[in-house]
Amino acid sequence: MQDILVFAGSARTNAFSKKLATSAALSIRRHTPIRARATLIDLADFDAPLFNADLEFLQGVPESMQAIKAMVRSHDGLLIATPEYNGFIPPLLVNLFSWTSRPEPHEPPGLVYQGKPVALAASSPGRLGGVRVIPRLRDAASELGMIPVPGFVTIPNAETAFAADGTLDDEAMARDMDALVNRLLTLCLKIKEKQPKRIRDGEQAPGQNDKTGQNDKTGQTVKQAASSVG
Ligand SMILES: Cc1cc2nc3c(=O)[nH]c(=O)nc-3n(C[C@H](O)[C@H](O)[C@H](O)COP(=O)(O)O)c2cc1C
Repeated sequence: MQDILVFAGSARTNAFSKKLATSAALSIRRHTPIRARATLIDLADFDAPLFNADLEFLQGVPESMQAIKAMVRSHDGLLIATPEYNGFIPPLLVNLFSWTSRPEPHEPPGLVYQGKPVALAASSPGRLGGVRVIPRLRDAASELGMIPVPGFVTIPNAETAFAADGTLDDEAMARDMDALVNRLLTLCLKIKEKQPKRIRDGEQAPGQNDKTGQNDKTGQTVKQAASSVG
């Protein structure tokens, strides 16, 4: 079973990127033959102040960000659906990456993301679908140690792109999403198959010990709401 953490780069109510994240989670659930679960979280439930090293020194990493770190650790891969802001990564994601890349005392920065496959998707009410953010997000993800899978999905004219059940209305776009999910799950599976059996069976990889005790694969042990799909 592959466990994928799915979130949008927007906290806005009715955000198009949240709809895109939902359609991705549905695609993960439908996927065959690789069995997979999607944990769909809303970053609006994981509020955090703007990263500031003084704040970190005084108060440490906020609980909300510790909870995300625990979920990243306990999932096999990530799928990020994002808007673009001025062609760039929205501040919500930059802030999330800043806080969650902060190491525990014994860790190098960004360890939590090391070797995690990630699939990237973007949406916009505009004609270009947020395509300019993809290479920037890919760079940021690589810098954190994630392994971005080839390709991406972009959804232009997002106001009219989603059906009431959360799926993508356009058949070609839905196929693109399924193909992206397939590449993500295939990579997750390959990585898992290469792990020693004791780690596949649930023991955490070296350096991936969960200090918070919130490493339930569904993310349900964290305080914030996370809906498990699949
Ligand atoms: C500061 C700012 C910058 C934006 N820059 C872009 C942009 O570069 N490209 C684009 O397609 N849309 C841009 N938009 C419009 C967003 O795509 C639109 O607000 C979208 O609904 C935000 O995503 P969400 O629906 O997932 O919250 C921008 C919006 C804001 C507030």
